[in-house]
Amino acid sequence: MTSQILRDARRYEEEKERKIAAEPRPAFHLSARVGWMNDPNGFSYYKGEYHMFYQYHPFSPYWGPMHWGHAVSKDLLHWEQLPVALAPDKEYDRDGCFSGSAAVLPDGRHMLMYTGVAKETQPDGSSREVQTQCIAVGDGVDYEKYAGNPVLDEKHLPESGSRFDFRDPKLWRTQDGTYRCVAGNCTAEHDGQILLYSSPDGFEWKFEKILVSNNGRFGMMWECPDFFQLDGKHVLLTSPQDMMPQGFEYHNGNGTLCLIGTYDEKTETFREEQDQSIDYGIDFYAPQTVTSPDGRRIMIGWMQNWDTCNLHAPERPWFGQMSLPRELSVRNGRLFQKPLRELETLRGEEVRYENVTFTDVIRLDGIKGRKIDMELSIRPENAENIYRKFAVRFAQNDIYQTSVSFRPYESVIKIDRKHSGSRRAIIHQRRCLVNNARSRKGNLKVRIILDYFSAEVFVNDGEYALSATLYTDPSVDGISFFADGQVTMDVVKWDLYM
Ligand code: FRU
Repeated sequence: MTSQILRDARRYEEEKERKIAAEPRPAFHLSARVGWMNDPNGFSYYKGEYHMFYQYHPFSPYWGPMHWGHAVSKDLLHWEQLPVALAPDKEYDRDGCFSGSAAVLPDGRHMLMYTGVAKETQPDGSSREVQTQCIAVGDGVDYEKYAGNPVLDEKHLPESGSRFDFRDPKLWRTQDGTYRCVAGNCTAEHDGQILLYSSPDGFEWKFEKILVSNNGRFGMMWECPDFFQLDGKHVLLTSPQDMMPQGFEYHNGNGTLCLIGTYDEKTETFREEQDQSIDYGIDFYAPQTVTSPDGRRIMIGWMQNWDTCNLHAPERPWFGQMSLPRELSVRNGRLFQKPLRELETLRGEEVRYENVTFTDVIRLDGIKGRKIDMELSIRPENAENIYRKFAVRFAQNDIYQTSVSFRPYESVIKIDRKHSGSRRAIIHQRRCLVNNARSRKGNLKVRIILDYFSAEVFVNDGEYALSATLYTDPSVDGISFFADGQVTMDVVKWDLYM
């Protein structure tokens, strides 16, 4: 039985969608059906399709009481929007259905696990949100909330755990048919921790242990965990709030963290070995992964930044988009990300130049566009004489441009959208250290994927990724290259067609 609140939301999004149908949109990135979108939720493969749910406030382009929007895709590039799946319509989730995940039950039903939020008046008169974990089960369109909700609440917290910051369960089915889930939490001192739970059937849950403790290292509360095996290692992804910068690795504010280590299945103990940012750009948060039927671990993140996302114009009819799907691998203790290989099926006409040597600004015939896949390979013409700076500028005309630049002597790559048309005093640049001897000698590979409202940059075959949104008018499609010193470059560009 669907509730009146859910029916109203479904009717609203249908009507509003018709009204805003002509608005420009990202071409191959999933964006909000109407209104506001944040985190990816319930990313799963079910009945022959990928399902992507998302944090959703259909009624305005700003964050509000959270619903779960819903879209499906066969290839993760062409998306079809489905009716809103969850609305805040129960006592325990009356103030929002926050982030969560999905699994397929042995009887063929689709199970969603999400955070129910309900405000509670405190003894001092203030109001705080209590967060519990809840289940809904459905057929891929309609979902029924479980009568036993919430399935995890304060009774299932370790002594140190805050019931006000207890959210974003990521569940999975193990080989023996039982279930595990990780959830974000923090201590009374706001220090992040990831909790591990187990269940025989997905409905009855038991607290196992604190899987990882921040111990004051990376920001404060840890949101949106994901935990999986990859290339012989175990990987924990999480998005810490309130980070402080650490060199070029982590930046201020909400960030992303990847811990790579080993996991002892018997004792359920994770031993950390390496840490890194997931994305080094401006707009990337709360990623979630799925395993494809052919065994690839695919990640999608919310391509936005919490500190800037509420600064847009109120008349914007949709706000928020997902990143490209990225194939993950672990190599030499690092997380690598490559754009989903199916993106190559969208490639149309190819324009290719090899061994172009230049010392100032150049433009190349046919190299332009705002919906493109472009690979650059750059090197010094002479290994004894390394250039000082290389830049590629795109979404460019006489007024606007966004750039990716590289200085080999620092081995730092930078994305800069200062001149993209933004009128707000927000972060416009981010830098990333390319920690690699070849790069210090000026050898760099960069792949740039542009959609109408974003740029995603993959360095050295996915060793580093930098993502940023940009709102330059889609007709502004120039591209130029710049060298301070002498650069030799190969470039190949494809227009992408849906
Ligand atoms: C992360 C987050 C989650 C929460 C959701 C609410 O971006 O804060 O922790 O579940 O957004 O929309």
